[in-house]
Amino acid sequence: MQNMNELLNAVLPEGKLITATLSQPRRKDDETYSKVAVKPLMLKNELHYQLAYHYEKKVTHENLTLEQALPRISLLLEQEMRQGLFCTLEADYQVLVSKKGKLGILKKAPTKKQVANLAHNRKKTYVLEEGEAVPFLVELGVMNDKGRVLAAKYDKFRQINRFLEMVRDILPALPKDRKLTIVDFGCGKSYLTFALYHYLAVQEKFELNVVGLDLKADVIEHCESLARTLNYDGLHFRIGDIADYDEFEAVDMVITLHACDTATDAALEKAVRWGASAILSVPCCQHELFSQVQNDLLEPLLSHGILKERFSALATDAIRAKLLDIVGYKTQLLEFIDMEHTPKNILIRAVKSDGQDTAALWREYEAFRAFLGASPYLEKALSDRLPAPSKV
Ligand SMILES: C[S@@+](CC[C@H](N)C(=O)[O-])C[C@H]1O[C@@H](n2cnc3c(N)ncnc32)[C@H](O)[C@@H]1O
Repeated sequence: MQNMNELLNAVLPEGKLITATLSQPRRKDDETYSKVAVKPLMLKNELHYQLAYHYEKKVTHENLTLEQALPRISLLLEQEMRQGLFCTLEADYQVLVSKKGKLGILKKAPTKKQVANLAHNRKKTYVLEEGEAVPFLVELGVMNDKGRVLAAKYDKFRQINRFLEMVRDILPALPKDRKLTIVDFGCGKSYLTFALYHYLAVQEKFELNVVGLDLKADVIEHCESLARTLNYDGLHFRIGDIADYDEFEAVDMVITLHACDTATDAALEKAVRWGASAILSVPCCQHELFSQVQNDLLEPLLSHGILKERFSALATDAIRAKLLDIVGYKTQLLEFIDMEHTPKNILIRAVKSDGQDTAALWREYEAFRAFLGASPYLEKALSDRLPAPSKV
């Protein structure tokens, strides 16, 4: 190697670099860093380089794309640091810059034997890993057959993983000694239904009977055919309305993701009546309370349509969560995916639980509902499971 650009162009773009350290600052004062450590990492499926600037009492970080990292590292060695060590699997390259700016590059035997683990950050959180082709993700066009997530589908990949993390958390609530029955209401194109099946049946080895239900015949036919292609023997799809669905006497888990308005309530009612151990629901288009909510004290909020709409949606989900608690669940509201992707990002996760103070929960609920002047669908649907209304 004759010059810095030749070296950087050889070790950075191919992802050969394991680590690099730039040291021996030209300036020696309290405000200068003593070294810069460089390592590759993947961010949003793109190769980046992280530069860690080591000051006396702190370390600051800068994440750069390849195009940004090349000139930055080059400039650091030309103007600020007098030594560099670039470690790759094939060789270590030691860079020495004289006081007059003359450059020397020495090639030495490699000291590092392991390739940097670029997926390190994702491994901590992702249930499905990039780099290994997962058949259903390939069929759905999220990954290619080498296991690489397509750039345009990265958000979908993150959403699928986020959903599976939420399922993973509640695995202890599911029966282990028998086949599980799971229903996904309003499954639509069923990315998450396939993901759930893959995770539970293929990765976690549960015996499953999973049904996806939707009104749309063409979508359901497509999903059914894909399930057969994938040999997902315990996954089936049915055309139908949530309110009329009565295939099972009991169901272990009910999923309902983005089912519009009171379709979510119809699904929650079914789940409660089946005695489901777990319910995962992302509501959508919560219109019901918008036309009901009425309270003069809330006038500054309700007089603005956009605020009224958001408030009504949040109040609807608060009501659903409280009603689920009252009928015997421990309910959490979680962020499903980042706000930047969709405002429909609240997931209601309810797990069957004993020992709740039903009377106290019911008092809280009744006060809240009366304050809103509302008459929610789910309360009426579950009236036979709820305490008697208080006499006014
Ligand atoms: C916004 S899509 C969501 C699809 C999928 N669950 C997801 O999160 O990607 C809502 C789906 O719910 C279905 N749906 C709405 N009301 C329904 C009902 N009463 N019974 C069955 N499916 C319903 C719609 O046909 C649509 O496919």
